[in-house]
Amino acid sequence: MLSVVPASAESRPVSVQAPAKVNLFLGVGDLRVDGYHELTTVFQALSLSERIRLSPAETLTISVRGDNAAAVPTDDSNLAARAARALAERCDRDPAVHIDIDKGIPVAGGLAGGSADAAATMVGLDRLWETELSRAELSDIAAELGSDVPFSLHGGTALGTGRGENLMSVLSRGELHWVLAISREGLSTPAVYGELDRLRAGGSAPTVRDPAELLQALAAGDPHRLAPLLHNDLQPAALSMRPTLRRTLRAGTDAGALAGIVSGSGPTCVFLCASARSAVDVAAELSGAGVCSAVRTATGPVSGAHVVEEAEQ
Ligand code: C5P
Repeated sequence: MLSVVPASAESRPVSVQAPAKVNLFLGVGDLRVDGYHELTTVFQALSLSERIRLSPAETLTISVRGDNAAAVPTDDSNLAARAARALAERCDRDPAVHIDIDKGIPVAGGLAGGSADAAATMVGLDRLWETELSRAELSDIAAELGSDVPFSLHGGTALGTGRGENLMSVLSRGELHWVLAISREGLSTPAVYGELDRLRAGGSAPTVRDPAELLQALAAGDPHRLAPLLHNDLQPAALSMRPTLRRTLRAGTDAGALAGIVSGSGPTCVFLCASARSAVDVAAELSGAGVCSAVRTATGPVSGAHVVEEAEQ
């Protein structure tokens, strides 16, 4: 007689959503002996997100869907695969899972899409495998995978120090409205840091600016006060590698944005707007200006990587 084995909770696929990030402030200090730069940064998680579905499988496999999916590796170099292996090793089990990535965050755009995939994989496998690891343990594994992965887990708005992996939540009152100008061609993060080192070579040591004023503007929830304080030390390097971004930045402010900066290592440019209405107007004008390949609106802050319950899907 056949016995019917009920599907255990463990065998059910898990869906996870993880946000893009923007650096409202990115102060880059000295190059360290480990090849990383000392950072003082303020991250904000945006409503643009990745959807990851994790299903039990014979072996570790990855599929990628969505915009520019062909540019994302499906082998072991994918950060989500590395996250699965790291978590499996930690839990002393096989990384037998299929990871389906639905890209909502531009690839190599300076918006931490790969980090979001890694964070989502960790959160999803934590549920699928019932690892019972603490948030701090997950964050330690995340930091080994990449500098932005702990923030993709954390979400919200946070001050990051060290490589960017030491996080402290900061108060951000209200909702900020952003427009993102996306380029089809990505920029390599190590190459942009390398260009910054080259631009700085021979000059005086970098002065690390203080984000105190920006943190006050965030706590006050005033986008007009915040706008002139947005800052990115990597911007001159990104502009040196992709001079056309100057035109993109100018087009956003000409269209009525309060301010625009390159996001992280670029090439995505992000524009802070005074309201949801203004963001829609700026997005429409940027779309027609021919200065980028796609335009999106987003709000922040939003939460970090989290399991999406059936009703949310
Ligand atoms: O940590 P992650 O793998 O995302 O970093 C990618 C690259 O970006 C590093 O290899 C390094 O070249 C550069 N980076 C840096 N300093 C940081 C973060 C990243 O130089 N704090």
